[in-house]
Amino acid sequence: MGSETPLDSINDSTSDYRLTGGCGGISVDLLSSRIETLGHSDVQRLEMGAPILLPAHFSHPRIPADLRAVVEKWPVHGWGRKHPSWAPLTKKVHPNPLRPYTGQSDFIDILQAFQQAAEDAILRMVPAWRGALTPDRVSWRPLELSTRRVRWNARDDLFHIDHFPTRPTGGRRIVRFFFNACDGEDIVWSSTSPLKKLIEDGKAFGQPQVFQDMAGLRRQAIRNQPWWSGFQRQTGLHDAVVKLVHDHLKRDETFQEETVRKLRCFTPGSAWFALTDSCCHALLRGRWLVDITWFLEPDACQFPDLLPTNLLGTVSSPRSRTLLPLDKAA
Ligand SMILES: [Fe+2]
Repeated sequence: MGSETPLDSINDSTSDYRLTGGCGGISVDLLSSRIETLGHSDVQRLEMGAPILLPAHFSHPRIPADLRAVVEKWPVHGWGRKHPSWAPLTKKVHPNPLRPYTGQSDFIDILQAFQQAAEDAILRMVPAWRGALTPDRVSWRPLELSTRRVRWNARDDLFHIDHFPTRPTGGRRIVRFFFNACDGEDIVWSSTSPLKKLIEDGKAFGQPQVFQDMAGLRRQAIRNQPWWSGFQRQTGLHDAVVKLVHDHLKRDETFQEETVRKLRCFTPGSAWFALTDSCCHALLRGRWLVDITWFLEPDACQFPDLLPTNLLGTVSSPRSRTLLPLDKAA
């Protein structure tokens, strides 16, 4: 498998960019990025799945130490527990049992500030996305990622593309912005080839297995219709296929063990973002990650051939964003 992921090759001509170095003996790539508007080829890499690291002078909110201590006492530990998060559109804190806890308003304030800072930075880099981003959730993950106890398909440490069981995209793209809000520890994050390359490898070499037979993948999603149309009434073919891809990638031990990967250590204060519906990624280690998500209208993307709906053959009509009719699927 494996060619170079084109994701890391955004070069810059100034020295005012953050570079990450070695981390505990792990080989780490040096990344570079820019806060200026991205050029045409850089946007192409981003839309393909390239992670973009923000420069060191990126202005971000500061988290008070006492708020960290408060959140750590919330009931977020233990099997199957969710990270605390906040939804900008509904103004709700998730999971629901956290609502009465002390510090909730401070928690919302800080996540709202992060969401605004991140959105401003992203729109500076990609102005064409203005008006095309719908906020999803902002989470602040206090728990160590490598030892978190969750069901297998909720594990973040296995390579995957993103799929949200309770929030179907309807073919919109997923933009995720990450910030290391820990005081003294790196966050170790890894990515492998982007979705387009994984599909090409699956067809040509049979690995990842899930992409060996794309038509069969769509048929399997259609057979699952009772699940996705009953449980999630707004889920169409695209989300059903992405769920299969997400789950099969995590179940594919050969892929998980042998795929070409790039390890990155993000030092405290580092910020990066990616289109995680194409950037196949894994969160390996660290805690206190701020994670901000938007849905991006596909019409705002400059490279239609890189849309997951086109790559997976689940596109029907650009206007049928929420429900993609099965009979018109490619
Ligand atoms: Fe993810």
